[in-house]
Amino acid sequence: MAAKAESWGSRVGLILAMAGNAVGLGNFLRFPVQAVQNGGGAFIIPYLVCFVVMGIPLLFIEWSTGRFGGRYGNHSTPYILDTMAKGRIWKYIGVFGIFTNIAVASYYCYIESWTMSYVYHTIKGTFVGMDQAQVAGFFDTYTTIAKSTTGIPYEAVVFYIICLLLNTYILSKGLGGIEKVAKIGMPLLILFGAVLAFKGLTLGTDGASDLFPNANAWDGLNFLWTPQFDSLANPKVWLAAAGQIFFTLSVGMGTVHCYAAYIKSKDDIALNAVSAGFMNEFVEVVLGSSIVIPIAAGYLGLDWVLQNAGFGMAFQTMPYLFQQWGHVLAVFAGVFWFGLLFFAGITSSLAMGTPWIGFMRDEFGWKNNKGAWSFGLIALIMGLPTVIFFKEGVFDEYDYWAGTVSLVVFAFLETVLFAWIFGIKRGWEEINLGADIKVPVFFKYVILVVTPCLLGWVLLASVPDMTNKVMNNDTHNKEWFADAYYAEDYGSAEFGVVDSVTPNFVKIAFENEKQ
Ligand code: PHE
Ligand code: NA
Repeated sequence: MAAKAESWGSRVGLILAMAGNAVGLGNFLRFPVQAVQNGGGAFIIPYLVCFVVMGIPLLFIEWSTGRFGGRYGNHSTPYILDTMAKGRIWKYIGVFGIFTNIAVASYYCYIESWTMSYVYHTIKGTFVGMDQAQVAGFFDTYTTIAKSTTGIPYEAVVFYIICLLLNTYILSKGLGGIEKVAKIGMPLLILFGAVLAFKGLTLGTDGASDLFPNANAWDGLNFLWTPQFDSLANPKVWLAAAGQIFFTLSVGMGTVHCYAAYIKSKDDIALNAVSAGFMNEFVEVVLGSSIVIPIAAGYLGLDWVLQNAGFGMAFQTMPYLFQQWGHVLAVFAGVFWFGLLFFAGITSSLAMGTPWIGFMRDEFGWKNNKGAWSFGLIALIMGLPTVIFFKEGVFDEYDYWAGTVSLVVFAFLETVLFAWIFGIKRGWEEINLGADIKVPVFFKYVILVVTPCLLGWVLLASVPDMTNKVMNNDTHNKEWFADAYYAEDYGSAEFGVVDSVTPNFVKIAFENEKQ
């Protein structure tokens, strides 16, 4: 038993922390790329189905597993899983989950550090007067670590280290620190997001600028929201949908268990889990699809968006488009956009630190301080390769194995543990203990049969893709970046000369790449 049991300050604090854990860069950067790459409206149905039959059940499993472990004084995934079944194997599976967190944190914090740097550059006025190619080129220079855009050598590394230090500092303050950041960050994020979404939705339908007179913000939304049923038979779309659901809800990594371990034994988890889950979905499908896509479609047209979904839009295009609103509004928009991304990022990266810190305490009795600093150090060591070899596709390599495959493996194992080893009868009682809502019995059977079968199927169906990845050494940062980033690399010689990125230019680069 832990000597002095820490617990959440309030229910609001707990929900905001859990929602902050889930709401992340994935909602604003990864979701639009996934949706666009998988056919827009074709993606939404599998996505929502996965939310109901895998997302919600896994949230129930993880919240109740965490609270159960916490009852026995355990606050880390290895110890929590260990309380649920006999046999050391579960402890090792928990340790595997911890390493997933560190690997994801190391590349995740790199993007988070860009958002800090972009807030700085927005305020400093770096983007004022730049044309589109120059704004895009800025990102290129920034991520080439030996170059600098501020005069500080190795600027990207410097911001990365500052970002890790900030995370470490907050984590060293324990649960209270996480709760405070969530209470400030989440409302601001929603406010910033709502303002930008409003702007995105009111951009108009008749070409927001003379860049592309036929551009139409609503084309973007229609593309996302017009359901297409023919893709329902395509397993690739289902895999992408499942992968996005795992990543966005933060399930399959142990962060939810570790937060839930600080919930009092008989406090509600059912309603809380649903609330935090729905908050994430609201931010993802409503805010996440009403900002970059309509704004970019409004200025540059849907074709351009289809070719450039992802970071191309978020970091290389948005600062340029904001300039179209005049200097003052551009500063506000830039600070709102990158500030929103920053809050989304930090409330999630803090969550990724907790399984390690909890484990160091459960295993060695380390205080938060020591746990936090050791986490920061390991994340730094593991993260430097993504920073240095970013252009070689190391980022995607991490995201694929740590941020996608590992989550599904872990989720599969924990579902089997919960439903079949711990037993659905006890499991169902745990979920309903202290519940403020009546959980439909439907979920009992879903957890028992549907979720594990689907998870198993997702894993099996991914095997060809995994072998492909290993054999062909296919290292493109696809999940977040689409191919645009590379398209641009291919044309980088001409890139400075072509003064705006036309869809054709990108298309030509694509063709070149394919040959
Ligand atoms: N859910 C977060 C996002 O959408 C990422 C995350 C995954 C955070 C796993 C914690 C654990 O960006
Ligand atoms: Na999310």
